[in-house]
Amino acid sequence: MGTPGAQEQYVLEGNEGELQRLADQHAVLKASMGTLVLAPVDFSSHLRILDSGTADGLWLRELQESLDTSHTYVGTDINAAFFPKDHPGVSLQVQSITQDWPREWASSFDYVHQRLTLVGAGQTPVKDCVAKLVNLIKPGGWIELIEADFTCESPNGPAMQKYETLMKTFFDTIGVGSDFGKSLKGYLEDEGLEDVQERAFSIPYGTVCHDATLAEKGSSHLLSALKGVWAFLHGNTSKSLDGEFRALRDEVERELEDRGVHVKMVAVWARQPVRS
Ligand SMILES: C[S@@+](CC[C@H](N)C(=O)[O-])C[C@H]1O[C@@H](n2cnc3c(N)ncnc32)[C@H](O)[C@@H]1O
Repeated sequence: MGTPGAQEQYVLEGNEGELQRLADQHAVLKASMGTLVLAPVDFSSHLRILDSGTADGLWLRELQESLDTSHTYVGTDINAAFFPKDHPGVSLQVQSITQDWPREWASSFDYVHQRLTLVGAGQTPVKDCVAKLVNLIKPGGWIELIEADFTCESPNGPAMQKYETLMKTFFDTIGVGSDFGKSLKGYLEDEGLEDVQERAFSIPYGTVCHDATLAEKGSSHLLSALKGVWAFLHGNTSKSLDGEFRALRDEVERELEDRGVHVKMVAVWARQPVRS
């Protein structure tokens, strides 16, 4: 089993209310993307489905609830503390994206899904982590990767632009780099996959999100992520959440209310060829 490397830990593991933040973000993404699954996966017969970086398996459990046919659901993460005690029909296992996967899992999944987890590659090249995931797909099976993309010109106001700069510094400090999102399509092509697709989403937050409940969840998630990332970059001490942090948080909060914010996400999906 590819247990996490000695230094591997989820960087926002200690962020207060992190699972609630992830659930809020999940609700916003699902609504904006309009679906849990972008790849044209045929769920009408039994499939083996993997969600890598699953946290508490929320995406997997919602997929399971949404489908009539019975499937095998596997979730993996480096942080077992996120796994719920009760998860009927879903198997959860510790596994890092940077480590070798169980040999018997090679070419065994019909659909491999991973969202917002490649930052966990750290110093390991993202391309290598993607190649390890591709190795898990059966011939004819699909892979789907979704990540935030802070590389394009920002449509946002000054507060959110500071937030975006902070995120880029975060990605660069961790080692993954802030521009890996735009390379994902090429990585899937380099792995010899077919039907490679890429789609960009501009996710609305604050006043430009026209559902009040989702707008509240979205703002709460963005502000919680800001706190977690700021604390990480400033030594994870309570003292680090000082006046400078509070000023930026208040500025972002005002911008969410006054003009709203957009965050770009990039999704890529592709199919393992059926070789004759
Ligand atoms: C931002 S959360 C995303 C959770 C979920 N995929 C979602 O979209 O809501 C990132 C998840 O990846 C996990 N993670 C971080 N580094 C990882 C690694 N090297 N291997 C596997 N999982 C990792 C974290 O523990 C966390 O659960």
